[in-house]
Amino acid sequence: MIRDYAKRGEDLPWQRVYGFLDESHIRFNHAPHIRAKVDCATCHGDVASMTVAERVVNHTMGFCIECHKTKQASNDCLVCHF
Ligand code: HEC
Ligand code: HEC
Ligand code: HEC
Repeated sequence: MIRDYAKRGEDLPWQRVYGFLDESHIRFNHAPHIRAKVDCATCHGDVASMTVAERVVNHTMGFCIECHKTKQASNDCLVCHF
């Protein structure tokens, strides 16, 4: 199984902790979020207490949009997609 992935030169599916698929055409910048004082933990969980990086928070579109709605940040498609 694992060797098949390696042979095809593909990443193992569970290797990805964070990061979007290229096909989703997401632009994400930390800067506006840091400026708006959004906590790291809101999006990454309590990283400080982890021994191995884990994906605690799923960065789905709903996750982004929910907060943008409550914080009155833009939910224009082209804010996040290109
Ligand atoms: C609004 C949500 C949000 C906040 C707040 C946030 N991040 Fe992120 N962070 C993300 C997303 C989404 C990605 C993935 C970006 C990508 O794939 O292009 C990411 C990626 C990262 C990565 C790369 C991880 C990897 O697996 O490649 C690091 C390191 C990181 N963030 C650290 C931080 C730190 C430190 C803070 C606080 C100062 C922070 N982030 C705050 C959403 C956030
Ligand atoms: C916990 C709240 C929260 C989450 C989760 C969040 N955002 Fe945001 N986002 C904000 C706030 C607050 C701003 C700043 C809005 C402003 O400056 O007026 C912002 C700004 C942005 C901007 C810049 C908008 C502009 O007008 O320039 C982009 C792009 C963005 N977010 C993308 C994302 C993406 C993609 C995700 C999901 C991976 C995400 N955000 C998740 C709160 C959040
Ligand atoms: C605040 C950020 C944000 C906004 C605004 C937003 N999206 Fe998204 N969208 C995302 C993220 C992040 C993902 C990818 C989630 C993942 O990788 O699981 C996504 C995924 C998608 C996908 C699925 C792509 C795929 O991977 O198959 C579609 C389609 C999509 N968005 C359409 C839209 C449309 C249409 C709008 C405007 C009405 C919109 N999005 C607005 C953040 C956003």
